[in-house]
Amino acid sequence: MTPLRIGVMASGNGSNFEAIVQAIQAGRLGADIPLLVVNNKNCGAHQRADRFGIPVEVVDHRGYTDREALDRELVSLFQAQQVDVVVMAGWMRIVTDVLVDAFPERLVNIHPSLLPSFRGLDAVGQALQAGVSISGCTVHIVTADLDAGPILAQAAVPVLAADTHASLSGRVQKQEHVLLPATLQQNAHRWRQG
Ligand code: GAR
Repeated sequence: MTPLRIGVMASGNGSNFEAIVQAIQAGRLGADIPLLVVNNKNCGAHQRADRFGIPVEVVDHRGYTDREALDRELVSLFQAQQVDVVVMAGWMRIVTDVLVDAFPERLVNIHPSLLPSFRGLDAVGQALQAGVSISGCTVHIVTADLDAGPILAQAAVPVLAADTHASLSGRVQKQEHVLLPATLQQNAHRWRQG
Protein backbone atom coordinates (compact mmCIF):
# COMPACT_ATOMS: atom_id res chain seq x y z
CA MET A 1 0.00 0.00 0.00
CA THR A 2 1.21 3.53 -0.75
CA PRO A 3 2.79 5.05 2.36
CA LEU A 4 0.82 7.85 3.98
CA ARG A 5 2.68 11.14 3.47
CA ILE A 6 2.78 12.87 6.84
CA GLY A 7 3.89 16.47 7.28
CA VAL A 8 4.82 17.24 10.89
CA MET A 9 4.92 20.57 12.75
CA ALA A 10 6.81 20.83 16.07
CA SER A 11 8.05 23.59 18.35
CA GLY A 12 9.85 21.80 21.15
CA ASN A 13 11.50 18.65 22.31
CA GLY A 14 10.05 16.53 19.51
CA SER A 15 9.41 13.33 21.42
CA ASN A 16 6.07 12.84 19.64
CA PHE A 17 7.73 13.44 16.29
CA GLU A 18 10.28 10.78 17.18
CA ALA A 19 7.49 8.39 18.27
CA ILE A 20 6.01 8.68 14.75
CA VAL A 21 9.42 8.04 13.18
CA GLN A 22 10.01 5.01 15.43
CA ALA A 23 6.59 3.57 14.54
CA ILE A 24 7.38 3.93 10.83
CA GLN A 25 10.78 2.29 11.26
CA ALA A 26 9.26 -0.55 13.28
CA GLY A 27 6.63 -1.20 10.58
CA ARG A 28 3.71 -0.20 12.84
CA LEU A 29 2.81 2.80 10.68
CA GLY A 30 2.83 2.66 6.88
CA ALA A 31 4.00 6.20 6.27
CA ASP A 32 6.78 8.56 5.20
CA ILE A 33 7.63 11.97 6.64
CA PRO A 34 8.75 14.12 3.70
CA LEU A 35 8.97 17.25 5.87
CA LEU A 36 9.18 18.45 9.46
CA VAL A 37 8.55 22.17 10.03
CA VAL A 38 9.83 23.77 13.23
CA ASN A 39 9.50 27.38 14.37
CA ASN A 40 12.70 27.35 16.42
CA LYS A 41 15.88 26.21 14.77
CA ASN A 42 17.48 25.00 18.00
CA CYS A 43 14.57 22.87 19.17
CA GLY A 44 14.93 19.20 20.02
CA ALA A 45 12.64 18.21 17.16
CA HIS A 46 15.10 19.70 14.67
CA GLN A 47 17.99 17.73 16.20
CA ARG A 48 15.97 14.51 16.11
CA ALA A 49 15.09 15.05 12.44
CA ASP A 50 18.75 15.60 11.61
CA ARG A 51 19.58 12.35 13.38
CA PHE A 52 16.99 10.47 11.28
CA GLY A 53 17.82 12.25 8.03
CA ILE A 54 14.34 13.76 7.73
CA PRO A 55 14.14 17.09 5.86
CA VAL A 56 13.44 20.09 8.13
CA GLU A 57 12.34 23.64 7.35
CA VAL A 58 12.60 26.38 9.96
CA VAL A 59 9.66 28.78 9.78
CA ASP A 60 10.37 31.31 12.50
CA HIS A 61 7.10 32.99 13.54
CA ARG A 62 9.05 36.17 14.44
CA GLY A 63 9.69 36.74 10.74
CA TYR A 64 5.99 37.04 9.86
CA THR A 65 3.66 39.99 10.29
CA ASP A 66 0.68 37.91 11.42
CA ARG A 67 -0.49 34.35 12.06
CA GLU A 68 -2.07 34.08 8.60
CA ALA A 69 1.20 34.90 6.85
CA LEU A 70 2.98 32.22 8.86
CA ASP A 71 0.26 29.69 8.03
CA ARG A 72 0.41 30.57 4.32
CA GLU A 73 4.09 29.60 4.36
CA LEU A 74 3.27 26.31 6.14
CA VAL A 75 0.57 25.51 3.57
CA SER A 76 2.91 26.18 0.69
CA LEU A 77 5.68 24.00 2.17
CA PHE A 78 3.37 21.07 2.90
CA GLN A 79 1.52 21.32 -0.42
CA ALA A 80 4.84 21.28 -2.26
CA GLN A 81 5.50 17.93 -0.58
CA GLN A 82 2.00 16.67 -1.42
CA VAL A 83 1.37 15.52 2.12
CA ASP A 84 -1.81 13.57 2.87
CA VAL A 85 -2.08 14.75 6.46
CA VAL A 86 -0.39 17.33 8.69
CA VAL A 87 0.32 16.50 12.33
CA MET A 88 0.84 19.16 14.99
CA ALA A 89 3.21 17.28 17.31
CA GLY A 90 3.75 19.91 19.99
CA TRP A 91 3.20 22.97 17.75
CA MET A 92 2.85 25.76 20.27
CA ARG A 93 1.31 28.42 18.02
CA ILE A 94 -2.37 29.09 17.44
CA VAL A 95 -3.23 28.18 13.86
CA THR A 96 -5.64 30.06 11.61
CA ASP A 97 -8.27 29.21 9.02
CA VAL A 98 -5.54 29.48 6.39
CA LEU A 99 -4.02 26.20 7.58
CA VAL A 100 -7.29 24.56 8.68
CA ASP A 101 -9.00 25.24 5.33
CA ALA A 102 -6.01 24.03 3.30
CA PHE A 103 -6.15 20.64 5.04
CA PRO A 104 -9.80 20.05 5.89
CA GLU A 105 -10.15 16.97 8.14
CA ARG A 106 -6.43 16.44 7.46
CA LEU A 107 -4.91 18.54 10.23
CA VAL A 108 -4.31 16.55 13.43
CA ASN A 109 -3.23 17.71 16.89
CA ILE A 110 -2.07 15.92 20.02
CA HIS A 111 -3.08 17.60 23.28
CA PRO A 112 -2.02 16.61 26.81
CA SER A 113 -5.46 16.35 28.44
CA LEU A 114 -8.72 14.49 28.07
CA LEU A 115 -10.49 17.07 25.92
CA PRO A 116 -12.85 18.86 26.25
CA SER A 117 -11.22 19.40 29.65
CA PHE A 118 -8.22 21.76 29.85
CA ARG A 119 -8.02 23.30 26.42
CA GLY A 120 -5.22 25.75 25.62
CA LEU A 121 -1.90 26.35 27.29
CA ASP A 122 -0.36 24.17 30.02
CA ALA A 123 -3.05 21.50 30.08
CA VAL A 124 -1.01 19.43 32.55
CA GLY A 125 -0.79 22.37 34.97
CA GLN A 126 -4.52 22.98 34.55
CA ALA A 127 -5.26 19.33 35.42
CA LEU A 128 -3.08 19.50 38.55
CA GLN A 129 -4.68 22.78 39.57
CA ALA A 130 -8.18 21.34 39.13
CA GLY A 131 -7.35 18.33 41.31
CA VAL A 132 -8.67 15.74 38.87
CA SER A 133 -7.74 12.11 39.56
CA ILE A 134 -7.64 11.08 35.89
CA SER A 135 -6.07 12.95 33.01
CA GLY A 136 -4.57 11.83 29.72
CA CYS A 137 -4.13 12.85 26.11
CA THR A 138 -6.26 13.38 23.03
CA VAL A 139 -5.62 13.12 19.31
CA HIS A 140 -8.11 15.24 17.40
CA ILE A 141 -8.85 16.91 14.10
CA VAL A 142 -8.06 20.62 14.16
CA THR A 143 -10.86 23.09 13.42
CA ALA A 144 -11.10 26.85 13.85
CA ASP A 145 -12.02 26.39 17.57
CA LEU A 146 -8.94 25.87 19.74
CA ASP A 147 -8.61 22.23 20.90
CA ALA A 148 -12.27 21.60 20.13
CA GLY A 149 -12.27 19.61 16.87
CA PRO A 150 -13.55 16.03 16.48
CA ILE A 151 -11.77 13.55 18.75
CA LEU A 152 -10.04 10.62 17.05
CA ALA A 153 -8.64 8.85 20.12
CA GLN A 154 -7.87 9.32 23.80
CA ALA A 155 -5.79 7.61 26.50
CA ALA A 156 -6.29 8.08 30.23
CA VAL A 157 -3.65 8.18 32.95
CA PRO A 158 -4.07 8.39 36.73
CA VAL A 159 -3.11 11.60 38.54
CA LEU A 160 -1.34 10.62 41.76
CA ALA A 161 -1.35 12.62 44.98
CA ALA A 162 2.43 13.04 44.84
CA ASP A 163 2.49 14.13 41.20
CA THR A 164 4.56 17.10 40.12
CA HIS A 165 4.16 18.82 36.78
CA ALA A 166 7.13 16.80 35.52
CA SER A 167 5.91 13.42 36.75
CA LEU A 168 2.39 13.88 35.34
CA SER A 169 3.75 15.24 32.04
CA GLY A 170 6.01 12.21 31.75
CA ARG A 171 3.14 9.79 32.35
CA VAL A 172 0.93 11.59 29.81
CA GLN A 173 3.72 11.70 27.24
CA LYS A 174 4.36 7.98 27.53
CA GLN A 175 0.75 7.47 26.43
CA GLU A 176 1.04 10.10 23.70
CA HIS A 177 3.92 8.21 22.13
CA VAL A 178 1.72 5.12 21.77
CA LEU A 179 -1.56 6.87 20.96
CA LEU A 180 -0.40 9.24 18.22
CA PRO A 181 1.23 6.73 15.84
CA ALA A 182 -1.52 4.17 16.45
CA THR A 183 -4.22 6.74 15.67
CA LEU A 184 -2.44 7.80 12.49
CA GLN A 185 -2.28 4.17 11.38
CA GLN A 186 -5.95 3.56 12.25
CA ASN A 187 -7.09 6.59 10.27
CA ALA A 188 -4.62 6.38 7.37
CA HIS A 189 -7.31 5.08 5.00
CA ARG A 190 -9.21 8.39 5.42
CA TRP A 191 -6.22 10.42 4.29
CA ARG A 192 -4.25 8.28 1.85
CA GLN A 193 -4.64 9.80 -1.62
CA GLY A 194 -2.25 7.69 -3.67
C1 GAR B 1 3.13 17.17 24.02
O1 GAR B 1 2.88 16.73 25.32
C2 GAR B 1 1.85 17.67 23.37
O2 GAR B 1 0.71 17.03 23.83
C3 GAR B 1 1.85 19.12 23.80
O3 GAR B 1 3.19 19.52 23.72
C4 GAR B 1 4.02 18.41 24.03
C5 GAR B 1 5.13 18.33 23.02
O4 GAR B 1 6.12 17.42 23.42
N1 GAR B 1 1.02 19.91 22.96
C6 GAR B 1 0.28 20.91 23.40
O5 GAR B 1 0.26 21.28 24.55
C7 GAR B 1 -0.55 21.58 22.32
N2 GAR B 1 -1.49 22.47 22.90
P1 GAR B 1 7.18 16.90 22.39
O6 GAR B 1 7.80 18.13 21.72
O7 GAR B 1 8.19 16.15 23.21
O8 GAR B 1 6.48 16.02 21.39
